Amino acid sequence: MPKHTVTAALPYANGPVHIGHVAGVYLPADIYVRYLRNAGKDVLFICGSDEHGVPITIRARKEGITPQEVVDRYHEIIGRSFRDLGISFDIYSRTSSETHKQTASEFFKDLYNKGVFTEEVTEQYFDADAGQFLADRYITGTCPVCANENAYGDQCEKCGSTLSPMELKNPRSALSGNVPVLKPTKNWFLPLDKLQTSFLNDYIHGHTDWKTNVTGQCKSWLNDGLKPRAMTRDLDWGVPVPLPDTDGKVLYVWFEAPIGYISATRELRPGDWEDWWKGDTRLIHFIGKDNIVFHCIIFPAMLHLRGNGFVVPEQVPANEFLNLEGDKISTSRNWAVWLNEYLEELPGRQDELRYVLGSILPETKDSEFTWKDYQTRVNSELVAILGNFVNRVMVLTHKFFGGKVPTPQTDGPLQGAKDATRAEIQSHVDDMRKALDEYRFRDGLSSLMNIARAGNKFLADAEPWKTIKQDEAQAADALHFAIEICANLVFATEPFLPFTHDKLCRQLNLIPMLLMVRHFWRDGLVAKPLPAGHPLGEPELLFARVEDETIAMQTEKLLKMKTPDTGAEAALPAAENKPLIQYDDFAKLALKVATVKTAEKVEKADKLLKLTLVADDGEHTVLSGIAQHFAPEEVTGRQVVWLSNLAPRKMRGIDSEGMILMAEDTDGKLVFVSPSQAVAPGSGVS
Ligand code: 2FM
Ligand code: ZN
Repeated sequence: MPKHTVTAALPYANGPVHIGHVAGVYLPADIYVRYLRNAGKDVLFICGSDEHGVPITIRARKEGITPQEVVDRYHEIIGRSFRDLGISFDIYSRTSSETHKQTASEFFKDLYNKGVFTEEVTEQYFDADAGQFLADRYITGTCPVCANENAYGDQCEKCGSTLSPMELKNPRSALSGNVPVLKPTKNWFLPLDKLQTSFLNDYIHGHTDWKTNVTGQCKSWLNDGLKPRAMTRDLDWGVPVPLPDTDGKVLYVWFEAPIGYISATRELRPGDWEDWWKGDTRLIHFIGKDNIVFHCIIFPAMLHLRGNGFVVPEQVPANEFLNLEGDKISTSRNWAVWLNEYLEELPGRQDELRYVLGSILPETKDSEFTWKDYQTRVNSELVAILGNFVNRVMVLTHKFFGGKVPTPQTDGPLQGAKDATRAEIQSHVDDMRKALDEYRFRDGLSSLMNIARAGNKFLADAEPWKTIKQDEAQAADALHFAIEICANLVFATEPFLPFTHDKLCRQLNLIPMLLMVRHFWRDGLVAKPLPAGHPLGEPELLFARVEDETIAMQTEKLLKMKTPDTGAEAALPAAENKPLIQYDDFAKLALKVATVKTAEKVEKADKLLKLTLVADDGEHTVLSGIAQHFAPEEVTGRQVVWLSNLAPRKMRGIDSEGMILMAEDTDGKLVFVSPSQAVAPGSGVS
């Protein structure tokens, strides 16, 4: 029996994951793995944090902490939210682990010793002040396409063009603001051009069973002609290049991150990890569409070159993107529903999210999440169809039969309806299994709901609440069969809605035996009737309605948190674009708290207010450009932070002594910088 090594893309540990990640990768992967496990397959589900790469170093700089601190924080947050959503990884590892460093280094050295890489000396931008080569994201300049002055060395966020640092006009280092210089450096390249003819063309064209969105992207790369790609970079955060004289060089993050799947397997199964990567193994990568080239071209090429029994990926069921309320999800604009926040703000509603996202998975094209649609799907599908059916069966059985499975009838008046419903359920189960085999998880989920629909229809036609009055045996037969349908739902819910599965097990007082699970999922045989007299658990609502207020709150929160598109995720804020200063530079500023005694408009100067400030050494006049934001009466009496030793300047014939500090919100609104409680005028700020 083949082993199944199923991986889910390692998320970057530079922020929490959002619902786009969940719908793109982790939910479909989890449904698939749960399905395989239920069917009795040998499966490992591998994931972990991707802890290297430039975005992590950028975040660390931005927050003034080390990259390790960044990844420690997010590794914890991401790992916890996956667990809380019921994503059932066998291991959630991380690429900063020692095992990973060792595994990635071994991999690189093996290819190096085989003479796979070409060594090339190229000219790269170097920041002489910072004493380091600059990653593409650390170089800004003018976009050659749209003239945006803040384009990055790899991309212009304004026009979306993919760039290389050499294409930027007026390049500047984001570390120091200086003009970088070109300096030669040696790196090791994977000759993808040669691999295209020797392996990749056949590999990609041979996979006629891949999703069309995946094959389409691969073929377009092949048509353009692959080029050698550097597998090492001049950076100080990553897995060091395991060769002599390579200080300041690390493995390219896209070289080592996929090896992270192997490292994690090794950590989990030190004794037999190789069996999960060699021989009779199906290697399946769940990823988002932006990862296709790395998993369908570069990683297979690496595994192929490594040889020694390593298999190459058999399936790469990549999804497209999920949009949010009519707009692209964007971490830099904070336009996202963050998984950790969802789990905190809507506790106990994991399966609601799994259901809604499962129903809109971007399997063949981009799809869209809206809070209103979330509410509708929960209330009119989960609550009204699945929850309602089970609840009616439970309540009626408790009411009429003391909570015990009633006795069925053979060839009673309901026999025809029971046979027809059983056959219908069988066809839904067949469809569901076929859909899962073909990575069509939306269809699989809709088959699950069709089982509940069939249950509702049977119950509505059989009307046990009416027949109980004249024919108790018929009502018993109806509920006996309805409970059998619930037993089918116990099995069918497990991959999609594991929390609901647990609740159903409790309510039916059923711990499904392994054999029953296998019959259902492996052999496609619908559940057997529960024996008469079997005591049920207490009725418990499977889902609660989502109220309008919840939706209003979530929608409002989204809008409130949205920030303008500055590309802030990768960019350094304006202040950080300035060169580093020493403490002595800062100490030159004489910052003081002052109280505004009077404020008045300045004639013929729309923007200026003339302020009289009181400090420890008397009164001072300061002109401030805040007149379009504040009326004089809003300012009088406030305490402000005053830069008192700025050389005086004459404006509109008035001497202005220093300036007051204001914060500018992302939407351009000005806010006073003030002490959090009143202090004596003239108090120092340091
Ligand atoms: O796109 C991403 O989030 C990457 N961190 C995925 C890496 S997948 C694998 F190669 F590790
Ligand atoms: Zn541009």
